[in-house]
Amino acid sequence: MKTILITGGAGFIGSHVVRRFVKNYPQYKIVNLDKLTYAGNLANLKDIEKEPNYEFIRADIVAGELIKKIFQKYRFDGVIHLAAESHVDRSIANPTEFIYTNIIGTVNLLNAAREIWEHTEGKLFYHISTDEVYGSLGSSGLFTETTSYDPQSPYSASKASSDHLVRAYHNTYKMPVVISNCSNNYGSFQFPEKLIPLSINNIRNNKLIPVYGKGENIRDWLYVEDHAEAIDKIFHSGKIGDTYNIGGNNELKNIDLLKVLCRIMDQKLRRTAGTSEHLITFVKDRAGHDLRYAIDSSKLQKELKWKPSVVFEQGLEKTVEWYLANEEWMKNVTSGEYLKYYDSQYNKR
Ligand code: NAD
Ligand code: TYD
Repeated sequence: MKTILITGGAGFIGSHVVRRFVKNYPQYKIVNLDKLTYAGNLANLKDIEKEPNYEFIRADIVAGELIKKIFQKYRFDGVIHLAAESHVDRSIANPTEFIYTNIIGTVNLLNAAREIWEHTEGKLFYHISTDEVYGSLGSSGLFTETTSYDPQSPYSASKASSDHLVRAYHNTYKMPVVISNCSNNYGSFQFPEKLIPLSINNIRNNKLIPVYGKGENIRDWLYVEDHAEAIDKIFHSGKIGDTYNIGGNNELKNIDLLKVLCRIMDQKLRRTAGTSEHLITFVKDRAGHDLRYAIDSSKLQKELKWKPSVVFEQGLEKTVEWYLANEEWMKNVTSGEYLKYYDSQYNKR
């Protein structure tokens, strides 16, 4: 039986990856290691927490000695590393936490894996990253695996740094690694500070939807379960030392996305058409706001036969339905620390 460590498994994408692996691979023991920051919530994994091949460990990846002890005890065969500070606005307000978790935390995991993997046959350190490391595109072009890194925010700079370190451990110590860089995800269990769940929550509560700048910024949206499937394929069949770009082939201006979302919300909440759109409010732009991200995922499509399967409007409708049906979850995650932060940020604008 292989033992696989998934870090950040109580977060948004991590919880979908943990669920998929626990259900699809009973021959693996899945260990979810998470600090449970404001963004991590074990309620995200209620449906699988009693499965015999699942175990949870609460730990901080910044605590290097503890991480080494955990690796010595469990002797993981594979690592899928998702734990990170993930929100750009928070990285602008307070970059230091991003340096600790995203950079030092990644190095701690690499060091711990290096210590236990004398023979690297059958071992893999899979680092999950973002397309934001490539910086911002103009109105044309796509990010490929060979696009030069040009991170613009403290978040993307910290992720770029961790990507470089993972590659450096491969080149220097022959650590068996693979990296993927994915575009913006959406779906259930996403913490309501990111554009889509924040807007759903605000619309439901008749609060304003803050749109940074003119809403002209473009993101390439991918349904989270499609990302989890790509991670599964790359973990099992990706080439060691390689990078794979993952994207939805689904570029949207923020303002256009919000108009679609408002239409769906009006239908679901049985409000008169046009009601939610009135909540759209243009606010001060994000500092250093990247204009456009767009991914060329043809390498992954050709080599590993993956492609995005969920049509955006359908995925968005499912997402809205999930948030409307899970009001308790929303209350749970938006209490305490997070609300204080949200209020302080929002009141500034
Ligand atoms: P998230 O913020 O929802 O979850 C992050 C998880 O990491 C949380 O459960 C949190 O408790 C945990 N964590 C944070 N600091 C930790 C620490 N020091 N020790 C242990 N655990 C810690 O993030 P997400 O959106 O699910 O993103 C997961 C990964 O995917 C990140 O590495 C992110 O950079 C990457 N990514 C995200 C997106 C996206 O659209 N959300 C796109 C591409 C890549
Ligand atoms: P976000 O969900 O924070 O993801 P990222 O910054 O990683 O792309 O933001 C997505 C886009 O939406 C981005 O262009 C910033 C914008 N945005 C708003 O206009 N208003 C908001 O309240 C938030 C959170 C984001």
